[in-house]
Amino acid sequence: MLCTGGVAWTDGGQGCPRRDRPAPARAPVWDRDALRDPHGQPDKALRVEAMFDALAPTYELVNTLGSLGRDAAWRRRAVAAAGAAAGEVVLDICCGTGDMLRALAAATPALLVGVDFAEQMLARANFAGARVPVHVVRADALRLPVADDVVDAVTCAFGVRNFADGPRGLAEMYRVLRPRGRVVILEFAQPEHPLWRVLYRLYVGRLLPLLAAVVSRERIRAYHYLARSIRTFEPARNLALRLETAGFREVTWRTMNFGGVVLYRGVKPPADAG
Ligand SMILES: C[S@@+](CC[C@H](N)C(=O)[O-])C[C@H]1O[C@@H](n2cnc3c(N)ncnc32)[C@H](O)[C@@H]1O
Repeated sequence: MLCTGGVAWTDGGQGCPRRDRPAPARAPVWDRDALRDPHGQPDKALRVEAMFDALAPTYELVNTLGSLGRDAAWRRRAVAAAGAAAGEVVLDICCGTGDMLRALAAATPALLVGVDFAEQMLARANFAGARVPVHVVRADALRLPVADDVVDAVTCAFGVRNFADGPRGLAEMYRVLRPRGRVVILEFAQPEHPLWRVLYRLYVGRLLPLLAAVVSRERIRAYHYLARSIRTFEPARNLALRLETAGFREVTWRTMNFGGVVLYRGVKPPADAG
């Protein structure tokens, strides 16, 4: 077992540089059928990986335009919730092009490591000028190549909804965290207030796909997937319960953006906790 970025990797820090399944010639389209039940698709992981590979060149631009720049503030709150100190190790799961890692690097002196399975997203992760070293590894969040109990904080921004197996993803976060380690998750949700919910659905379901079509010219209906996957994802209180079921304690969640974004936090209990 080698160490890279302060993390004890179970595979020498190589993650999954080689695809364990063939790369699709074209990203599968989220057609009407698949969008009916995006979380139930048997090939969800393959679709998600291919979708983000295809979106990578314009991913950050659409995010910034689509959220009117608010996404930076959500990530700053997540960084504060992670509360990482000097010498600690933070693992950012589903790091994508590195937005969350850059926010962490700007605010914490911790050692930073990111994992993501989409090669093209990782290829655009640039940490020039970061005050701390940042490492990224291509790996599946459902099979992290990281030893048990070695990470001080896990962050995951807008990744959990994309997991093919949500409970397994949370169990992996729990496994790699040391006792008293923190998990911090950002995820979209549907606002509970009926008015905000209608406006939100209009915005995410109609306007955002239009914006993305203009900016990214994607033809795989990725932003229709975004809207449907939020609409059919579990409510915030369920995800909070899932964190507790995974073993986390002191679980809290608070909404931002009129309920459209939720910040979850939990703590892995000490080893001797009953
Ligand atoms: C919406 S993007 C979020 C990227 C980044 N965290 C941010 O805040 O901009 C979701 C990312 O999760 C990654 N992802 C989804 N499921 C994954 C999995 N099982 N293992 C690794 N990465 C995954 C995708 O490749 C994509 O880069």
